[in-house]
Amino acid sequence: MSKANNKMSHRLMEDNINYSDINILKKFISKNPIFTNNKKVLEFEKLWSKWLGVKYSIFVNSGSSANLLSIAYLKNKYKKGEIIVPALTWSSDIASVFHNNLKPVFVDINLNNLSMSLESIKKKINKNTVGIFLTHILGLNGISNDIINLCKKKKIFLIEDCCESHGAKFNSKKVGTYGSISNFSFYFAHHMTTIEGGMISTNSKDVYEICRMLRSHGLVRESQSLSLKKYYEKKYKDLNSQFIFSLPSYNVRSTEINAVLGINQLKNLNKNIYNRNKNFNFFLKNLDKKKYYSNFDLKGQSNYAFIIIFNEDYRNKKFRSKFEKILKQNNIEFRRGTSGGGNQMRQPYVRNILKFKEKDFKKFPNVEIVHHYGYYIGNYPSLKNQKIKQLCNILNNI
Ligand SMILES: Cc1ncc(COP(=O)(O)O)c(C=O)c1O
Repeated sequence: MSKANNKMSHRLMEDNINYSDINILKKFISKNPIFTNNKKVLEFEKLWSKWLGVKYSIFVNSGSSANLLSIAYLKNKYKKGEIIVPALTWSSDIASVFHNNLKPVFVDINLNNLSMSLESIKKKINKNTVGIFLTHILGLNGISNDIINLCKKKKIFLIEDCCESHGAKFNSKKVGTYGSISNFSFYFAHHMTTIEGGMISTNSKDVYEICRMLRSHGLVRESQSLSLKKYYEKKYKDLNSQFIFSLPSYNVRSTEINAVLGINQLKNLNKNIYNRNKNFNFFLKNLDKKKYYSNFDLKGQSNYAFIIIFNEDYRNKKFRSKFEKILKQNNIEFRRGTSGGGNQMRQPYVRNILKFKEKDFKKFPNVEIVHHYGYYIGNYPSLKNQKIKQLCNILNNI
């Protein structure tokens, strides 16, 4: 409670960087080390791979850069084709498909896990489909045996966007270990932070080598494969081996400073996930089930923001205006549409290219519910039950 006006105040994110992080950073900087991508980045990548349960990871400067390189990898592999994407996701999941001249094909979601619906995927798969780009939304596990088996059967590449779901699990394994590539974000507002940052994780040596090059201008010297380096050197004898640019690429490297922060943040990740899940369970327990949807599939969850979706009787503009007015009055920060502002098909960067009209959006009823009547508000590890109850009281009394 703010003492000045006796009002609630609740931000989307708090306490994501603590004194231990700041002290570690000060210590590191005071040694005047190499600051550009170097040993600390490699150390962070190795620790992350171990924590997640994969062979390789590549640290980049954002989750969106991780998305971009994943799709660039697919473009390099297949040259053309369609990628099945959920209409509820972050903009860079779709933009990365456009940037690589592949075609995004949209599907609807399930309300209980906010992830792609199997039925919609089955309807959209065809001989041109080269990938499924699944997003685990707001810490809910979005993957299933059916989706994994479908990808295997059809020989379709599975990419998992885990930018909002670090540590969520399906069966006994963490999400991000099922796809051929998985992407994470360490933006300030996520489960852990490097301020800005992202990670690509994979068990595939090929993905690893190509993405290492894609991260750094396409430079062959970035690859850790001797045979790959030899191949290029032999084939392009007219080039200096330090300057062979294999593919049209990017520079999306991060720095040693961000990696040092990541290494320290990783130490608290499990504990923070535990606390946040506890908070979300308590939030749902105290929330009015008549007004708000609560039938989420919480198995394996790793929550970092409280999800609020209106129940059917409350899905109208009048209740929505009242809801937003009261949250604003109480200084409760919120985002409507949840992940990425809701239905990506409605966003100018998509609808102006694919020429979607209002009638097209209606074919995605669950995404539309979340777009118009879905929200998230902050959930941080230090949140106390008393404050969660206050939040619920405010929401329940709307
Ligand atoms: C699902 C999802 N994917 C990708 C991203 C992009 O991550 P970043 O902000 O690090 O670019 C976000 C951003 O928050 C996200 O929520």
